[in-house]
Amino acid sequence: MKTVPLDKDKHDRNTFDCGIEALNNYLRLMANQQASKDNTRTFVLEDPNQPQRIRGYYTLTMTPVDFNALPAKLQKKHHHAQSGGLIARLAVDKREAKQGCGAFLLIDAMQKLLTASAIVAFPLIVVDAKDGAIAFYEKFGFTAFNDTPNKLFITMADVRNSLEVPP
Ligand SMILES: CC(C)(COP(=O)(O)OP(=O)(O)OC[C@H]1O[C@@H](n2cnc3c(N)ncnc32)[C@H](O)[C@@H]1OP(=O)(O)O)[C@@H](O)C(=O)NCCC(=O)NCCS
Repeated sequence: MKTVPLDKDKHDRNTFDCGIEALNNYLRLMANQQASKDNTRTFVLEDPNQPQRIRGYYTLTMTPVDFNALPAKLQKKHHHAQSGGLIARLAVDKREAKQGCGAFLLIDAMQKLLTASAIVAFPLIVVDAKDGAIAFYEKFGFTAFNDTPNKLFITMADVRNSLEVPP
């Protein structure tokens, strides 16, 4: 399995259906436009037998972080930092659910952000989880911010450890 940047001339965005209309519409209508403006990057997991078919996707960008909403130890450690990498969206087509695509996409997104953070440093990855997906992210080591249960984070240090990448 591998992810590639969304290519509007190759990938069929209209048949993708993750069950959440806002996430389907983002892929269909916004993802390419936002990438061309350098606002976000969207990567898709292709079906190896039909590369135009999208099994899942995620979108990456940066976000301001309220470091006061972190546990005290992390507040102290990162009090000079302002931003985090954001997994802004992540979704798997309903027909591909429960086959490991979500896990693959999440790990792939964390790997890409880890690579980016080696060049432009940021201390956290943030996700805005849809209702029902909080436990999915917790499974991979994400923790909720103190003030927003749907917003979760993982430190780059933990990403590095979980992906077993040397510092
Ligand atoms: C959440 C979502 C990405 C999971 O994708 P998936 O391909 O079905 O997930 P996987 O098969 O890779 O599952 C990986 C692990 O996470 C678990 N998991 C999957 N969805 C879960 C959920 N909603 N809550 C808790 N655990 C979940 C699986 O049981 C599996 O655990 P296991 O390895 O112990 O068996 C997918 O259901 C989806 O796109 N949902 C709609 C959009 C959404 O909610 N996106 C996320 C927030 S923006």
